[in-house]
Amino acid sequence: MTTDPLVVFTPSGKRGHFPVGTPVLTAARQLGVDLDSVCGGRGICSKCQITPSYGEFPKHGVTVSDDALSEWNAVEQRYDDKRGLKTGRRLGCQATVQGDIVIDVPPESQVHRQVVRKAATARAITMDPATRLYFVVVEEPDMHSPTGDLERLERALREQWHIDAVTADLSLMSKLQPVLRKGKWEVTVAVHKGHKDSVAKVVEIWPGLHESGLYGLAIDLGSTTIAAHLTDLETGEVKASSGLMNPQIRFGEDLMSRVSYSMMNPGGDQEMTKAVREAINDLSTSIADEAGIDADLIVETVFVCNPVMHHLLLGLDPVELGQAPFALATSESMSLPAREMDLTKMNPRAQVYILPCIAGHVGADCAAVALSEEPGKSEDLVLIVDVGTNAEILLGNTSRVLACSSPTGPAFEGAQISSGQRAAPGAIERIEIDPVTKEPRFRIIGSEKWSDEDGFDQDVATTGITGICGSGIIEAVAEMRIAGLLDESGLIGSAEQTGTTRCVPEGRTHAYLIHDASAEGGPRITVTQGDIRAIQLAKSALYAGARLLMDVMEVDKVDRVVLAGAFGAHISTKHAMVLGMIPDAPLDKVSSAGNAAGTGARIALCNITARSEIERVVREITKVETAIEPKFQDHFVAANAIPHKTDPFPELLQVVTLPSPTFNSAGGADEKSGRRRRRRS
Ligand code: FES
Repeated sequence: MTTDPLVVFTPSGKRGHFPVGTPVLTAARQLGVDLDSVCGGRGICSKCQITPSYGEFPKHGVTVSDDALSEWNAVEQRYDDKRGLKTGRRLGCQATVQGDIVIDVPPESQVHRQVVRKAATARAITMDPATRLYFVVVEEPDMHSPTGDLERLERALREQWHIDAVTADLSLMSKLQPVLRKGKWEVTVAVHKGHKDSVAKVVEIWPGLHESGLYGLAIDLGSTTIAAHLTDLETGEVKASSGLMNPQIRFGEDLMSRVSYSMMNPGGDQEMTKAVREAINDLSTSIADEAGIDADLIVETVFVCNPVMHHLLLGLDPVELGQAPFALATSESMSLPAREMDLTKMNPRAQVYILPCIAGHVGADCAAVALSEEPGKSEDLVLIVDVGTNAEILLGNTSRVLACSSPTGPAFEGAQISSGQRAAPGAIERIEIDPVTKEPRFRIIGSEKWSDEDGFDQDVATTGITGICGSGIIEAVAEMRIAGLLDESGLIGSAEQTGTTRCVPEGRTHAYLIHDASAEGGPRITVTQGDIRAIQLAKSALYAGARLLMDVMEVDKVDRVVLAGAFGAHISTKHAMVLGMIPDAPLDKVSSAGNAAGTGARIALCNITARSEIERVVREITKVETAIEPKFQDHFVAANAIPHKTDPFPELLQVVTLPSPTFNSAGGADEKSGRRRRRRS
């Protein structure tokens, strides 16, 4: 028998010769193979599971005999009896090398395992979190060589895990002594080491082996909604996702009205800070409940948000963000203890990381989209639009990336729309209007059926048909335009002009009736002229922002468009283009990225290298300020038409026919002058 057998690890392909009797875990460590261990090889954590392979392996030039590993031992048997090991698995810290062997490291045993995102274009997230668990055996105190418990814990971490220096808060210190004794000098610690920290910090300690996991929150703090993903910091798995309305809405619907509230009400900023922090505390509690975990196991939180939300979250007055030159208190990323932000419903020593802002109007949410979608690595020119109350827009490729933010207002989220509502069961999310009969059919959230299909009534019996959500209103307006119920200027025709009694008078203008349950005491769902105007303002702002970036880039066309944002995932790309929300592009080159800002937050939560990366990328992005750019206004005005006035849209016309009625009722003339008045103000 050979004295230095060959060990080949898959899938890494790393290989090396080791003396007979070397534990597989030791061989893996020496070769730099990604094999996990929390207990340091003591046979209690089961993180080091491996699958040995036997037989002929011509590819590796190895023949593996049945006795290539040491026999199954008592520690493995005990673990198998207690928890069960999958067939063929061994514990890498117990099995020793006896002969040439091929060893597979299954994904769940890899420290830097990849978490594959669902979308087709997804980039995988490599697990490399800032906070990790370590099991240590700490030396007992001794009268003859007096040292403190923390110093002996520090030594254990150094000797057993090569962690050089650690600190601990006073609050951790108060747990240290009882926990060490309860664990009989065997404890698990959670150690946080940020990408900029020189010293690691012990943030939690448990007696014995801690097996209940470690969690983090990735939070996308928007002006209208707060969305959180509770993520397992060992596996990257999202255990629960939850959201709530941002309670700051009561101080103002959009960002500027919240800045004004702060300007006009002494202490107003503090009120808004308190409200949002309380909401995050509530969200932490409810999401932990939903996942069935103790909220104390949440040891990290990553935030992405726009600059105003950023300042209000941190307790900084956003007043400077309301006026040129839109100076941020800091645009750098921030790492700080959660308790400094009064986030008390998670681990008391939890750490917060906030992504850097790009500029006074372009926030950490846009940075998160850049982290998730990586426009700077795209060979073709990509336009990324994160649709929300404020649209974050990125345009770029490997040569250059530009970013701006555009104030679309909350219309795309169903707010300020007469029958608008949040995306919730009962909301109309899809709609089609027959171009001949002008009759609508629709689908609501909570049912897969269209309203003219059998079984629809039963499906909606519990939720009812309650309103229209953001994606529904976009489809409704675009379908009205395709069906000729709306002219290019956005004016709704009368029943006589359109040939349908669904176009009903509403004051001096008209509205299109989608659903009427008023006879049964239910809602009457219409799209009014006011709704069309709100959508026109929102889409013009969005389009003008994108166009402005194209001007700066000196291009007239983009190669592809990515729609991001919580509801970007639900927008029909065809309807977005009919509406003129985005520049003309082949439909198959328009895709949805889902909540890219939230994904960026998750990446930064799971991988600390990504934090350094986005900090570097943000410094290289060219910021374009829409608020002071005169061309923005020109583009905005031209974009008011549906689809828009000046740009060609041959790609779009390959997919739909756009009729060109012109409605010129008395109401229409007034409406147009009303629009001019609004623009001037
Ligand atoms: S390293 Fe913990 S069981 Fe093997």
